[in-house]
Amino acid sequence: MIVCLCHRVSDRDIQVAVNSGTLTFDDLQDELRVASACGCCQDSAREVFDRVCCGGGTARAGVSAAASAAAH
Ligand code: FES
Repeated sequence: MIVCLCHRVSDRDIQVAVNSGTLTFDDLQDELRVASACGCCQDSAREVFDRVCCGGGTARAGVSAAASAAAH
């Protein structure tokens, strides 16, 4: 799903950035330029960022599941 139309940033792009070590929304903006043009996407971009970063996103759950499966 495209979150930022101005810079064509998707929720997946945000997830990849978080998984690569982006810890704050400011860093996300520096990296992807999300919400740095018209600003219309700021609320939804923050929502996606918070969900992926702090809400135990599917990527982290996937990593945990993969690590668990590898351990067995
Ligand atoms: S839609 Fe994201 S800055 Fe315009």
